[in-house]
Amino acid sequence: KPKLFIFDLDGVITDTAEFHFLAWKQLAEELGITIDRRFNEELKGISRMESLEKILALDPALQGMPLEEKKRLAEKKNDHYKELIRTITPDHILPGVEPLIKRIKEEGILLALGSASKNAPAVLQRLGLYEDFDLIVDPAKVKKGKPDPEIFTKAADHFRVPYSACVGVEDSAAGIEAINRAGMFSVGVGSADVLSASAYIVPDTSRLDFDRIVEKFNRARE
Ligand code: G6P
Ligand code: MG
Repeated sequence: KPKLFIFDLDGVITDTAEFHFLAWKQLAEELGITIDRRFNEELKGISRMESLEKILALDPALQGMPLEEKKRLAEKKNDHYKELIRTITPDHILPGVEPLIKRIKEEGILLALGSASKNAPAVLQRLGLYEDFDLIVDPAKVKKGKPDPEIFTKAADHFRVPYSACVGVEDSAAGIEAINRAGMFSVGVGSADVLSASAYIVPDTSRLDFDRIVEKFNRARE
């Protein structure tokens, strides 16, 4: 069986992917840009600054903005986001996540968080899940974001666990690519057209089942 599970946060453990979208949408509107959910798929899993760059790239009139101004906009988005996450309680844990975490712990398997979000510790605290994680990788110490495998390999290296003994759970295309490039077993949560590269895919978190994941993991490792 696997030795380490590495979970993404936003859109896997709780629906903060929606809050990130709403906060970016509000910021974009303040800049006179409209973004939709389809475009938002490209923002999932990537850092705050990279997301801002992708939004600014949509409007030729916004090119060449000074770094200071970009930082101000990124902070503004984060203010919108922090306002939204104030409402989070343990009731906002997505279905299927708590039983999966419970089984992982019972089986003596390590659990890490591999999220690009600097707000991740605060969100886990609000959900009441902070103590369940053996490690939260600090995204400020990750040089290359998803789809680079670094955030996932950092978690495995911390525990000296071979990458082939790790399972990564993700809702973003960039995250699935990162897990695959790390040589880990990728579990995708979401639509098959976005996450087709996943080693195993479920349509939503309620379908995350420990035994099924391990069965697929073992089959892939044969
Ligand atoms: C995750 C989310 C992204 C978010 C990024 C940075 O990767 O999927 O939507 O932009 O984290 O989050 P932060 O809270 O640091 O702005
Ligand atoms: Mg995510």
